[in-house]
Amino acid sequence: MKVTVFGIGYVGLVQAAVLAEVGHEVVCVDVDQNKVDNLEKGLIPIYEPGLTPLVNANFEQGRIKFTTDAERGVDHGEMLFIAVGTPPDEDGSADLKYVQAVATTIATYMQSHKIIINKSTVPVGTADKVIATVSDTLKSLNKEFTFDVVSNPEFLKEGAAVNDCMRPDRIILGTQSAKAEKKLRELYSPFNRNHDKIIVMDVRSAELTKYAANCMLATKISFMNELANLAELFGADIENVRKGIGSDPRIGYQFIYPGCGYGGSCFPKDVQALVRSATGVGYTAKILEAVEAVNYRQKEKLFDYIMSHYQGDVKGKTIALWGLSFKPNTDDMREASSRVLMERLWEHGAIVQAYDPEAMEETQRIYGSRADLRLMGTKEATLSGSSCLVICTEWQAFRAPDFEMIKTHVADQVIFDGRNLFEPSLISEYGLHYYAIGRGLSV
Ligand code: UGA
Repeated sequence: MKVTVFGIGYVGLVQAAVLAEVGHEVVCVDVDQNKVDNLEKGLIPIYEPGLTPLVNANFEQGRIKFTTDAERGVDHGEMLFIAVGTPPDEDGSADLKYVQAVATTIATYMQSHKIIINKSTVPVGTADKVIATVSDTLKSLNKEFTFDVVSNPEFLKEGAAVNDCMRPDRIILGTQSAKAEKKLRELYSPFNRNHDKIIVMDVRSAELTKYAANCMLATKISFMNELANLAELFGADIENVRKGIGSDPRIGYQFIYPGCGYGGSCFPKDVQALVRSATGVGYTAKILEAVEAVNYRQKEKLFDYIMSHYQGDVKGKTIALWGLSFKPNTDDMREASSRVLMERLWEHGAIVQAYDPEAMEETQRIYGSRADLRLMGTKEATLSGSSCLVICTEWQAFRAPDFEMIKTHVADQVIFDGRNLFEPSLISEYGLHYYAIGRGLSV
């Protein structure tokens, strides 16, 4: 089938590559000529396991094409995906200007019936706005074509995006058009094997489903972080509590890992956006406000431990930091807990000596060259001359470190672990001090 994807960002590129892989003919349109040129040379703008070979193989076989020519894109696809960004506005609500720009472009060039599919995470009611924009533009151009607007939110996780897209848990289709549903069922049939994963509903419910999923997951995390803080005060161990409650299938083990807060491009943005949308309809979303507030506080947690350990004085100290990305298997630093920590440490005169398996370039891009940030080539190199070691991201490479080496090179022999990677009893055998989230302070 002929498909066009507008917006070659995370969601757009992964979706396009996966659709091409199963045999659809995909044209990707983006306003960024540089990005298009790079993709044609095989240079993929994001780090995502498995994505580069997938895109390049499909490009070579002519199933995926990249262009800035929107007219060509509209002409090509009978199904047109909108996968552009919806960045937070100043007040945290989702900014729809890119979505609306694509809607106008589609209406400007369309010469036949089109199915317009919203993949971007957009507030409830956006499909109606897209319908209005397309209708108004068609009218102003004296064109009369029919079209459908479908909400088809994406649920991929960074670091596992290709797999999530290839093997989705569910495919949500928000549409009341039988014709659009039929086409989309056909489009997704290669991904809909074994049992029916397609759930069809009205457009507004589909739009809300996306926010509901991310907000539920963010709520689980903030809830656990709150309990971790309580466990600490009660002298309990949150890791035991986690196992104790996760064994109840109604609760489950997933997404109940306490830590130094959630980051990324989705949870912080989507929780905020739903809070703002709620306000817009006269409702105070108290749980979601609390989820956001708890997360904000949790991102300060490692800094609080460090300050309490050093009695409020870290001036001139060198802090070794492992993990900069907001989670493993990505170079994404958006809303990463490491940033809150580094910025706090710098405000208090400390020097950060950091390592991340993928996010070094991104850190350099964000912070540039500064005397109080030293980006080191290996995790071991961060330790030399450091006072303490802090862990912000649970990369696999950090899970079994050489504790003797840490003891030798980290002057104050202390680890602050924002992801609860180790057993406190093991660390104490090495004679190291250990702070973890909700496990009781230093041993
Ligand atoms: C999230 C959702 O998991 C996806 O389902 C969704 O499609 C995506 O947002 C999106 O809207 O595009 P992602 O942001 O890639 O995916 O990352 P997650 O794996 O969900 O992790 C988010 C954050 O929560 C990370 O900082 C992670 O460290 C933290 N986290 C996760 C915890 O602190 N504890 C946990 O138990 C799980």
